[in-house]
Amino acid sequence: MKIIHITDFHLVAPGEPLWGENPHDRLDRCLSDIAQWHSDAAFCVMSGDLTNDGDPAAYAWLKERLQSFPLKTFLMVGNHDTRDGLLEAFPNAGRDENGFVQSAHETNHGVFLFLDTLKGPVSEGEYCAARREWLTWALANANDKPVWIFMHHPPFEVGLPYMDRIKLEEPDEFTEVISTHRNIRHIFFGHVHRAAFINWRGIPCTSLPGTNHQVPLNGESVGGSYSLEPPMYGVVLIDHDKTVVHFDACLDRTPAEMA
Ligand SMILES: [Fe+2]
Repeated sequence: MKIIHITDFHLVAPGEPLWGENPHDRLDRCLSDIAQWHSDAAFCVMSGDLTNDGDPAAYAWLKERLQSFPLKTFLMVGNHDTRDGLLEAFPNAGRDENGFVQSAHETNHGVFLFLDTLKGPVSEGEYCAARREWLTWALANANDKPVWIFMHHPPFEVGLPYMDRIKLEEPDEFTEVISTHRNIRHIFFGHVHRAAFINWRGIPCTSLPGTNHQVPLNGESVGGSYSLEPPMYGVVLIDHDKTVVHFDACLDRTPAEMA
């Protein structure tokens, strides 16, 4: 089974630049690349910060762009999104009974959970008691099936002080809930704008760069808060005994020349 993970588009009003780049153009090219090479994927997960400031025009642009995108998509909220803005453009986005943008998707390979960690605006993440109650139910409902979790904010620090200040707050409460399930195979997250692998309490976790701008590993190496390191999307290959995550810097397909 193949799925695609892509994150942190930070779309603004169409035509407006952001941090020296065109977020619509960069996302458009990433989506075209996915459509060309991975139309056989089962689905694509977009793990939040779809917009930079919840602009309805940005959500409308994304809705229009996805009309021609061949994969089923699961849209999530990040700290730069607004629930109302996302749901106005995508009224069919999965929601729990309290209106949080979180849902479960069952496949032959197990259960995929898409969590809503939005506290906002532009802040650390939150996973309140009501959301934890839904997750407790979803994990119990999965029984002993494998579970893959997608969430915008990581529940741990990743060694980036700039982002660690705004990780998921109250991580112990979140940890307590997921520790009730013994078959969590992987946690995918966004937010940190970098490709990283973390083994957290025995659970493999991966993050991705955004499609527009990145958070430098060392701020002094760039001289600013953000950089224009290459965007990547994740190609996730799931088998009964392994999960492979490829990080594809898709905007540079320059062939290497023999010399
Ligand atoms: Fe972001």
